[in-house]
Amino acid sequence: MERTLAIIKPDAVKAGHAGKILDRILSEGFAVRAMKLVTLTQAQAEGFYAVHAERPFFGELTEFMSSGPCVPLVLEREDAVAKWREVIGATNPAEAAEGTIRKQFATSMGENAVHGSDSAENGVKEGRYFFSESEIVQNGADV
Ligand code: CMP
Repeated sequence: MERTLAIIKPDAVKAGHAGKILDRILSEGFAVRAMKLVTLTQAQAEGFYAVHAERPFFGELTEFMSSGPCVPLVLEREDAVAKWREVIGATNPAEAAEGTIRKQFATSMGENAVHGSDSAENGVKEGRYFFSESEIVQNGADV
C-alpha cells in the first residue's frame, strides 16, 4: 500500500467544501490514516513548500496557505500518489479535466483547493511534516 499527503487548502475549507472533498476521498477508495484541522504559520508554510522557495509565486503561495485553516490528510491505497493526482486534476483549474476536484472547486492556480504529493517518497516526507508517528494510525475504522 502506498501513502500520499493531501491538503484541503484554505480556500476550500473557507468555502465549506471540506466535507464534500472528504466524501470524494472515501468514495475513491482511500483510507484516511491521519487528519487534522490546522492554521499554518507562514514559517510552517514556507517549510512545507521549501522546494519552491526560488519561485516568483512563493510569497503568494505561503501567504495563502497560512491565511486560514487547512486539512492535511495522510491517505493510503494502492497507487495512492498517481490516483490522488488523477482525482484532483491539473494544478491550473483552467486545465483540469471534467470531474476532478480542482475543476469543481479551484478558482485559480494559487487557490486550487487541494494539494497532492508528487511521489511516494515525498508522500512519506510530507506526511511526517504534519504528523508525528503516533498520529498516523496503522489500521482501525475509517472515518
Ligand atoms: P501544490 O500542488 O500545492 O504545489 C505547489 C503549489 O504552488 C501549487 O499547488 C499551486 O497552488 C502553486 N502554484 C504553482 N504555480 C503557481 C503560479 N504560477 N502562481 C501561483 N501559485 C502557483
